[in-house]
Order: sequence, then structure tokens, then C-alpha cells
Amino acid sequence: MSVHEPHSAIGAAVPDSAGPPVIDPDALLADQLGLFDDLRGRCPIAVDGRLGVAVLGHAEAVRVLDDPGTFSSAVSAQHAAVPNGFDPPMHTQYRELIDRFFTRERTAEFEPDCKTAAAELVAALPGDEPVEIMGRFALDFALRVQRRWLGWPLSTELALREWVVRRHHAMVDGDPVVQGSIAEEFDHVIRAVLADRRSGSGPRRNDLTQELLEQQIDGRPLSDPELISILRNWTVGELATIAASVGIVIRYLAVHPDLQDRLRQHPAMIATSIDEILRIVPPLISNRRVTTRAVDLGGFTIPAHERVTVLWASANRDESVFGSDNHFDAVGHAADNLLYGRGIHNCPGAGLARMELRTVTEELLARMVLIELAEDAPDPAPFPDGGYRSVSVRFTTGPVLAPQAAAMA
Ligand code: HEM
Repeated sequence: MSVHEPHSAIGAAVPDSAGPPVIDPDALLADQLGLFDDLRGRCPIAVDGRLGVAVLGHAEAVRVLDDPGTFSSAVSAQHAAVPNGFDPPMHTQYRELIDRFFTRERTAEFEPDCKTAAAELVAALPGDEPVEIMGRFALDFALRVQRRWLGWPLSTELALREWVVRRHHAMVDGDPVVQGSIAEEFDHVIRAVLADRRSGSGPRRNDLTQELLEQQIDGRPLSDPELISILRNWTVGELATIAASVGIVIRYLAVHPDLQDRLRQHPAMIATSIDEILRIVPPLISNRRVTTRAVDLGGFTIPAHERVTVLWASANRDESVFGSDNHFDAVGHAADNLLYGRGIHNCPGAGLARMELRTVTEELLARMVLIELAEDAPDPAPFPDGGYRSVSVRFTTGPVLAPQAAAMA
């Protein structure tokens, strides 16, 4: 399972009237954020047959994230995910290798390419008519930037697009057999990319995938299962999270024209504002842990070997930290924002994701003089996905301005 891959489906609830509240599977599917907000007001943890102990409170989430010795990431014996399924010292070793691909310099080097992708897609958006952006714009942006970042050919963008859609349906349906075969298909896509690189046919490419192939761990090259797991993390889970984030940001801006104006005037505020928008409307719902010993959490004792699910979508909306009514305070809330995690497993791709989301938002705000909502009600994605299933907006196009010029206009 990849790091941003959601749980496939919710299982039967665990009845325990004396314990923490039990998650109602129907309520979870109908309105997950509403359910988390409600449960969190009653107890900082809840229980569920599949999620195990669901961590709702911000303080409790921090407690879990800061103690990887007690809350282990080795949640699956069958699928060792690199590096998110490892604990120290193995995690430290692989994480050091992975972090080389996410330095500030590398991200800055990729920015012009990302800007081109954003500009192409924004320029193709129709003006003055309702547009559903999840189906076309948000996923296309995520696919295009990720493919270019990896140095993969255009044909993989099309194959991945189709695959992402099919995988999404399989995750929602929750059929483990179908999910298994779809995961296998993806491994084939990656194996084909690796075989192509190793065959030596065609020009030698000097890109990120090539560099990954040449990495060593313990004095040996990475194995195919390790490479596949790393590349799965950098594609599959991440594509959905970036696409969800694009939809959330556009919808939030459409609902808050005052914020649009402020960001057009002060583009330097775009990056922190995006983090805050994604705190309030989360693109990623949860990640898993397992306890290595009995431990107290949220006023209850949790036994050893118990599944624990950190609900970013709840902890990041905890009113005791962020105030009530989803109060927007980009600067004031930044230090406590768990959008990109915390502790040793914090997101290595945070800088890259922030740059990608800032770039596409800058392009949109510079090109569109107004983004308006073109739907009557939100269409939230049901658990286990974050963000929205669909988002319809209307863009009013203006003259093409560079972001700085847009700020001056
Ligand atoms: C808006 C976009 C993104 C969000 C919200 C996000 C969020 C997160 C969070 C919350 C974690 C911590 C998981 C945990 O503690 O179990 C994480 C880990 C991770 N993320 Fe991201 N992420 C994003 C984009 C990316 C991108 C673009 C990449 C790579 C291309 C990436 C690669 C990873 C990897 C490899 C880990 C595992 C790190 C480890 O276990 O040490 N993420 N991410």
C-alpha cells in the first residue's frame, strides 16, 4: 500500500458501550468531516472494525506521530512499503536515500517545467461557462507534472490516467481481489519503465528515474520490489492527493472571492494560504500505525498490536487548536498544521507539492479575473478519499498577466 493510498473500505463497527465512540460506517460514507467533527467533540479517539483506534484529536495525533517506537509504521507484513512501512533504523537509511530527490535545489530546478504544464492547462480552460474541474483539469495537472518530474514519456500519462480512474472505482467498491489485480497492473507499468531503462536501447536519459535506478543501499542496487514501492509512492497515492488539493483550492477560492482578491494583490501569500485551505478541507484523510506495546491515548489504554489510524482530516480541524467555525488564519495556524505530517515520516514531497500547488494557483489567479461557483451544493468525496468528487466553477478570463503583474493591476 502506498503512503497516500486510502483505506479501501470501512469494516464492521466494534461495539463497546463503555469505551470510546464507535464509528458509524453509514455516517462515515455520507459526511466524513461532519462525523469526525461531531465525534471529536465527544472524545479524542473513536473505534472502528477496520481502522482500529481512530485518532481524532490534534494532541493525540501529535502523541502518535512523535513516538514511532510505540506507534510503529510496520502495519503490513505482506507489503513492505518503502519508506513509509519501515521503522528506524531501516526507515532512517531509506529516508536518507529518498530525501536526496526532494532538495530545495531540485524542486527549484523543476519549477519552470511545472509552470509550463500549469500554464498549458490553465490556457485550455474555457471562460464564462460552467466547468467541472476534477474530471479534466485537476487530475490532468497532477498527471502531467508528476510524469514530467519523473522523466516518463507522454504515453505513460495516458496509461496512468486510465489506471487511476479504474483504481479509484476499485478502492471505493472495496473488492480486495480487484484491488490486487489493479495493483499488479501498475507494477507492470513500472516494470516496463525499468526494463526500458535497463535495456540500454535509445538515448541514455539523465533524469530522476535514471538516478533512482543508480542508487545503492548497503552497497547494493535497489531491488525491483524496492524500486516499485518507491515509484508507487511517487505516483499512485500522490496523484490523487495533488488532484484533490487542486479541486479543494479552486473551490475554496470560488466560495471566498475576498481571498481571491487578496491573493491577486499579494501573491507572496499564496503558498501559506494553500496550506491553510488544505488544513480546513483535507485532501488526505488518514495514515496507519500499529502499537508495539500497551499505551494510554485519549484517556483509554490501547493494547499492544492494535491498529491505529491517524485522521489528518480530524486532527487538523480540532477547534481546541484552530478555533471554531473553520476559522482561516494562514500565518497563525501554520506551526500546528499537520497537512504534511510530523515526525520522522513527515512528507518528503512537501516542498515539491507546495511548489506545484502554488504554481498552478498563481497561473489561475493571473489568468482568471474571477473564479465563481457554478454548483448548488458541494459534492464531497466519500471516505476513504479526501476533497471533492466534482467541483463546478465558472472562470472569467482576463488578459494574460504574469503573477506579479496581476498583483499590480
Ligand atoms: C498535497 C500533497 C501531499 C500531501 C497532503 C501529503 C501528505 C503526507 C503526509 C501527511 C505524510 C505522512 C504520512 C505518515 O505519517 O504516515 C506523507 C508522507 C509521505 N509522502 Fe506525502 N503528501 C503530499 C505530496 C507528496 C508528494 C508530491 C510526494 C512525492 C512525490 C510524497 C511522498 C511521500 C512519501 C514517500 C511519504 C512517506 C515518508 C516516510 O514514511 O518517511 N508526498 N505525505
